[in-house]
Amino acid sequence: MTTHAEPATEPPVSEAADTDDEVTTDPGWFRKAVVYQIYPRSFADSNGDGIGDLPGIISKLDYLQKLGVDVVWLSPIYTSPQDDNGYDISNYRDVDPLFGTLADLKKLTDGLHSRGMKLVMDLVVNHTSDEHPWFVESRSSKDNPKRDWYWWRPPRENPEAGPGSGAEPNNWGSAFSGPAWEFDQVTGEYYLHLFSRKQPDLNWENPEVRAAVYEMMNWWLDRGVDGFRMDVINFISKDTSLPDGLKAEGMLFGDGSPHFMSGPRIHEFLHEMHLEVFAGRDKPLLTVGEMPGVTVEDAVLFTDPARREVDMVFQFEHVALDQEDGNKWRPRKLRLTDLKQSLGRWQEGLAERGWNSLYWGNHDQARAVSRFGDDGQYRELSAKMLAGILHLHRGTPYVYQGEELGMTNMSFGAISDYRDIEVLNHHREATTHLGHTDAEVLAALAPLNRDNARTPVQWDASRHGGFTTGAPWIAVNPNTSHVNAAEQVDNPDSVFSFYRKVIALRHSEPVVADGDFTMLLPDDEHVYAFRRSLLGPASASGAGATPGVQLLVLGNFSGEDRTVELDGGGWGDAEAGAAELELGHYPAELILGNYPHDGAGTHDTVTLRPWELKVFRRQHNN
Ligand code: GLC
Ligand code: CA
Repeated sequence: MTTHAEPATEPPVSEAADTDDEVTTDPGWFRKAVVYQIYPRSFADSNGDGIGDLPGIISKLDYLQKLGVDVVWLSPIYTSPQDDNGYDISNYRDVDPLFGTLADLKKLTDGLHSRGMKLVMDLVVNHTSDEHPWFVESRSSKDNPKRDWYWWRPPRENPEAGPGSGAEPNNWGSAFSGPAWEFDQVTGEYYLHLFSRKQPDLNWENPEVRAAVYEMMNWWLDRGVDGFRMDVINFISKDTSLPDGLKAEGMLFGDGSPHFMSGPRIHEFLHEMHLEVFAGRDKPLLTVGEMPGVTVEDAVLFTDPARREVDMVFQFEHVALDQEDGNKWRPRKLRLTDLKQSLGRWQEGLAERGWNSLYWGNHDQARAVSRFGDDGQYRELSAKMLAGILHLHRGTPYVYQGEELGMTNMSFGAISDYRDIEVLNHHREATTHLGHTDAEVLAALAPLNRDNARTPVQWDASRHGGFTTGAPWIAVNPNTSHVNAAEQVDNPDSVFSFYRKVIALRHSEPVVADGDFTMLLPDDEHVYAFRRSLLGPASASGAGATPGVQLLVLGNFSGEDRTVELDGGGWGDAEAGAAELELGHYPAELILGNYPHDGAGTHDTVTLRPWELKVFRRQHNN
């Protein structure tokens, strides 16, 4: 392993590190793992200031252990002005006093480890806070040694009429509304910020920047953390000419994304990071790259173990299907066939090389049960069905805090109820520059805004859901009166208990982790159906691989009964290639469902009740 005791001042030398990259642990350990995401601000508040914190998390470790998850991913707890709730970091090596101390973090790490769980930290290195000392130096003068650590450009010579000053170096818009450039009086130049103006983008072209980031990552791994979730990591390589983007009709800004999503040097940077940070470390680690706009083809390259970049990526295709032109402020109804087509293509694309991550929600997305299920009459049934469908795909599933309780979207009232910078900026821009009314904007942003996922975890039925004894930083969903952990943890029929079962199944049943995936009924608008198959080791006679295990997974995405016909019972015996499994004559067993009684079905047809999930298993046992 390379040593990292001294701050690296030279560009990392990849060739030298390459030779000692021996993976000594099972490279695929995370196939069996389930990750739980904590958004600390909204998880549990220990001191009554209304904001969740590390001691709050520590007080819930037994809860996480009971759920059975293997890894906890912690959204950022680093020192931060909190412009974007911690995704704007001003010190990568300390904990924000809002959340606690480094000692608390150590306690949390130890507490997780002693319960057999791992800790994955959020890594936000596409940008820093504008209050990070690196940026403070960089902005101080044009000849400061850190000037080139960020993207500085002079004003455009022939200013255009626009909602900014018009002299921005290009026409890109920021993800949080307004231009992606901020003018700085001190030196008379602009800096690039793909997110808020308090999140200036780091210049990864500069080898000193990369070395500083790798050194910081090594520092955390040396302190015992078990990996990183890498924030918008496919934005770090940009087309250095920063050309204008296409401006769609009705839009205020050009779309710069083709010039910074999975840019020219992205694979090189991630491979270098792997060599400088992860290579040769002999304990199981997890790396997951958040990658908006990533394609299946590129994801294969990012996650192919032989290429040594990252273990898996978060892709965004399936969370863009319920909106026009990928614009979250223009929601539309999701078609189940689109969802199956998309997730099915990812399953197929990563079947041989690479690995999927699986998620319905996180701190940037609406609540799963409100978005993909039915958060009214069928809230519990649909929350369980969604869990079964997601977790039985091939890939590593992620549970976002509260999802295991079937927590729902929030019904906010006025714009003053919202806290997210993305929402607030959009509301301002849409009402001032686009001529929309307040009511129009509020209606459009209700279904998919990020604050839906950021209301506090509902621990009990009390007024603030047991989250805080003080005033919560964002309102608690009033349905905490009946949707809460206290009611569910020991109730065998709860959503929580169902998540326990599904998570346990991944641990006990190899076909869940390692089996292949076949989508069934791709054209059915209501039923999601697929098969997982795992061949046993080849038989002694060399007559092919037997015995094998298969799962047949069926989920009704509607509030009506649905009857489906499955050729050969859905087991695929008649299909070329699958025939060798020789499973045709063995009875299937219903191993998981979300209704108390089995319901109807013959060999070839199955009737599913509203939002019903059925998981059948069969095994060739000769
Ligand atoms: C990622 C984070 C999101 C944040 C953004 C900028 O998408 O998940 O919460 O606002 O990056 O850091
Ligand atoms: Ca607190």
